[in-house]
This record gives sequence, structure tokens and C-alpha cells, in this order.
Amino acid sequence: MQIFVDTADLDEIKEAKKWGIVDGVTTNPSLIKKAVEKLKSRGMEISMEDYIREICKAVDGPVSLEVKAIKAEDMVREAEILYQKFNHVNNNVVIKIPVNTAINEGDEIFEGIKAIKELNAKGIPTNATLVMTSTQALLAAKAGATYVSPFLGRIDDYIRSKLGIKFGKWDVFDGSIIKKIEEMQRKEKKGNVAELYEEMSSIDYSDEGIYDGVELVESIIKIYRAYNFKTKIIAASVRNALQVRKVAEMGVDIATIPFAVIKEMINHYKTMEGMKKFMQDVVEEYRAIFEQ
Ligand code: G3P
Repeated sequence: MQIFVDTADLDEIKEAKKWGIVDGVTTNPSLIKKAVEKLKSRGMEISMEDYIREICKAVDGPVSLEVKAIKAEDMVREAEILYQKFNHVNNNVVIKIPVNTAINEGDEIFEGIKAIKELNAKGIPTNATLVMTSTQALLAAKAGATYVSPFLGRIDDYIRSKLGIKFGKWDVFDGSIIKKIEEMQRKEKKGNVAELYEEMSSIDYSDEGIYDGVELVESIIKIYRAYNFKTKIIAASVRNALQVRKVAEMGVDIATIPFAVIKEMINHYKTMEGMKKFMQDVVEEYRAIFEQ
């Protein structure tokens, strides 16, 4: 599995690069905003273009940069600008296109898919972002997306919010518990088939059959494997190490992970405890080997 760093913070990118675990970077307007605010808070003046060039230079793997337009033709134009300005730096720019750019009911809903199709025809690699369902991922793959980014954490947020479950941004969510609650509620039901069907199908706490972000990734993997789509899956909006473990077990192509979660992945109480003991147990005779 490849690991991308989900950040536009150059310090974080450079630090993670030193660890030797970075295969790419993903940014979006919110991550760029955070990075710019950090620099400004330190009184630093920045040239956005220089800064992005630095990011491209810092990694020898794909760097996703997102468009800001919502109409297909404008997104294609912006994609060309981003590609022309930054791809020559390290030949690693991928254009992030929201899978559906509608903001209000009644807005056009296929602009993202159209833009992906056009960019694919022009040979510009794309990353279909804000993917919340497997069917969006299917359409993005059909349109020729190079990458597709299902947003695990945001699906968890959505399901928990709908159900009134309290949570913090980085909290683990296990949708299989919700499935068990549905089963428990169904067990008590009695009646004729039609009534039972009616009642039991009304007990559904999922989001279109998906119970959490990890299950969304599982579903997309299943679909892509069934039809041999070449589109690579990036598990995105990752909030904790448990999600990383689960998508890695499924064989996801890539996980784009925030810096804090990469740190969580390396920590364990028993590793720290074991380190303390090893340090205490170094005998003089052994220490002498290293003293020259
Ligand atoms: O990779 C997408 C990501 O940046 C969104 O993460 O935590 O804001 O849902 P989050």
C-alpha cells in the first residue's frame, strides 16, 4: 500500500519524507488554507506558486492539487493552468476534481464527471475527490479518473450525526455495531411477510447500505476488481490508525493520511515500555562495543 501525506504543510511533508514513508501528497483548498494561515501567523510572506512548487519538489510521487471552479469547462481550464504551472517541476501533478460539484438542489450534477472525462482525453491525470458512495466511484472510473478518493471520516461523521451519536473528529467509529443494533431490533418482530418486510426494511441506519467509511472502501475495491478498472483507490479523510489498518488489510492501493495519524501509527505503549527496559538493561560489557 502506498502512503500519501494528506497535508499542504511543507514542514510536515519534508519531515514525513525523512521517515522514508511518503509516496505522494494530497492537498485541497482547506489544507492549503491551513498551511497559509500557519505561515501568516509566523509573519511569513508567501508566494503561493513558489510554495506549491516547493511541495512538488519535495516528493517523488503524485501531488494532488484541486481546482476551485464548479463548471466542467472552468475546471478543465483551471486543471490546465495547474498542470502547466507545476507539472514541469517534478512531473508529478494530479488534478483533484470533485466528483459532483453541486452545492444546491437543482445544480448541475455531472460537471465533475465531465471534467474528468475531458482531462483523461487530454492525458492529464485526475483524482476524483469528495467521493461518498460506491456508485460515484464507479462513475468516476468509467469517466477515466486516475485516482478516486472515498472520504472515510466524513462518511463516519455523517452516519454518526444522523443517528445522534456524539463523537470527536478523530474518534474511531465501527459501523458493524450499528448492523448488530439493526439485527437486535429486527429479532423481536412478528407478523405476515408483507408487514414484516415493511417493518424490517424500515430499520436501516446505513448510508445507502454502507455502515462506515471503511466499508465504503471495501465496496469500491469489490466493484473495481469485478470489472478490472485501472483507477487507483485512495482512502481519504482518514482519522485514525484503525482505519488505516482495516483498509490496508483490504488491499487498498493508497491511503492518504494526516501527519497526526501517521504519528499515531508508530506509537504503542508496550513499545515505549520495552524501549525503557532495553535501555536499562544495557550492561557495561555491551556498551563498551560502541565506545571507540
Ligand atoms: O483527503 C481528504 C481530506 O483532506 C479530508 O479530510 O478530515 O477534512 O475529512 P477531513
